[in-house]
This record gives sequence, C-alpha cells and structure tokens, in this order.
Amino acid sequence: MEKATIEKKLLERITDIATLPFVVRKLMATLSNPRASARDLGRVIMSDQALSTKVLRLTNSAYYGLAQEITNINHAVAVLGLNTLRSMTLSIASHSAFFKGEGCPFFDRKKLWLHSLGTAICARVLARHFGLATFEDFFAAGLIHDVGKVIVDQYAPMLFHNVIMLTIKDKVTFYEAEQRVLGITHPEIGREAALKWCFPSFLIDAIANHHDPVKAGRSWEAASIIHLANYFCKLKGIGESGDQCSPVLDPSVEKAININTKALENIFTDIDKDFKNSQAFIDMI
Ligand SMILES: [Fe+2]
Ligand SMILES: [Fe+2]
Repeated sequence: MEKATIEKKLLERITDIATLPFVVRKLMATLSNPRASARDLGRVIMSDQALSTKVLRLTNSAYYGLAQEITNINHAVAVLGLNTLRSMTLSIASHSAFFKGEGCPFFDRKKLWLHSLGTAICARVLARHFGLATFEDFFAAGLIHDVGKVIVDQYAPMLFHNVIMLTIKDKVTFYEAEQRVLGITHPEIGREAALKWCFPSFLIDAIANHHDPVKAGRSWEAASIIHLANYFCKLKGIGESGDQCSPVLDPSVEKAININTKALENIFTDIDKDFKNSQAFIDMI
C-alpha cells in the first residue's frame, strides 16, 4: 500500500477512536461552557450510572486524599472542582479508548497506557512548577500524547508490527520508523484526535510537536512541557512507549528550562508522590 493511502486510511479511523461515549461528549461540552454551573455538571454525570459510580469511587480513592467520604455527585463536583473532574472523566474515556480492539501481539498497550499516565502526571507537575494555571489540561494532553500509536495498532496491526520490527532491526526511534513505514507519525495522528476532543489549540500544537517542540511556534512552551514530561517519564521507567532507543532531550528544551538541582529534586519527589497515589486511581478506572 502507498504511504499516502496508509495516511488517508489512518486519519479516517480517528473518527472512530475519538468518538467518546455520549455522556462524556455532553460532559466536555458542559465543562467548556463558561456559563455552566456545578449543578449542570452534576446533572450530566448523574445521567449515567456507570460514570457516576466511577466518579464517586475515584473521588474517594487515596489519589485525592480527601478527609471525608463523598457519597453524592453534587458533593464530589463541589469538592473537586470543574478542572479536576475534566481530567478524571478524560482519564476514564481515554482508558477505554486505549483498550479497544486486538492489535499487534508484540505490543503491550497496558504499558503504553502506564507511560501515558506517567507522562500526564509529569506534565501536570511541570506545568505547576512553571506556574501555569492550566495544569489540569496538561494532564489531559499527557494522557493522549501517544494515542496515535494506539490508533495504528488497532486499525493497521500488521503495519504497526513492521514499525516495531524496524525500531529493533535498524535501532531507529519509533518516530523515524513511523515516517519510513507509514509516512505519518503518531504526533500527527494525536493532533487529529485532540482536535476531535476539542482540546485548547495550544495543547493541540503541543501534542503535534512533542517530539520536535521548536516546530510548535507560539505553543513552544506547552510542547516543551509535554516533551520534557515524556522524557522524565522514560527516565523514571514508568510504563513503556514502544521506543527501543534511550530517551533524548531536545537541545532547545535543555537550553531553555533552567531548572536548578533543588527544583529538580522537588519535581521528582512530586512525580513520585503523585504516581504512588495514582496506583489506586489506575486500579479503579
Ligand atoms: Fe511520542
Ligand atoms: Fe510518549
């Protein structure tokens, strides 16, 4: 099959994977409406029994460390706030998207899901460190930054297998193997998914350029945070992204970050704490 045909077919498939359950789409619409109230949000969650149960279970998990038990959705909305609920419901939705279909037997999606969650946690810690108010959005971006790999695995498992084999045979990065085999890379596919999930534009650019932040233009800062989060997650060995090569930090990011040793220690401590707490979160999703 021609690379142009492969690219066209893969991009068509994004509609399938990016289609979230009706309740999650309704939830995203409510959350992005500045006039929507906590009561509106509670009503949407309560309209779906399975989602209500998951939200209550996660709210009461060690991950959020609340002192009191939350027994109803309106209370959960009031305690957690809109942004945290956005990350939570996106985690639930992306988790089910990650485990759809069979895929290549040599690729472990559970490890990729862990890598994505690890990157999400690192991105949130870094965004907080850099004083960005939208740190929950960075969590969501970290969660889906590699979703393009899942899409190829689901819809073209044989081609995905060829990509994996090439990374082993020629010792090239996953990104380079995708360019050679597919003619399209997972950040480009992830960009399409982020567009369908109505992410803010700076995060769409960040996902699209997480392997080459310089190309993100005005969204360079956001792309650098996702790039650095991906790098830290690999250094810490959380999950696996499918890449056989050692992680490399982009020179432009390395030059610009300017994190001193003490700050780096604090960032790593926060990542460890967040990841340890999220074990309960992972088990309950
Ligand atoms: Fe990636
Ligand atoms: Fe990654």
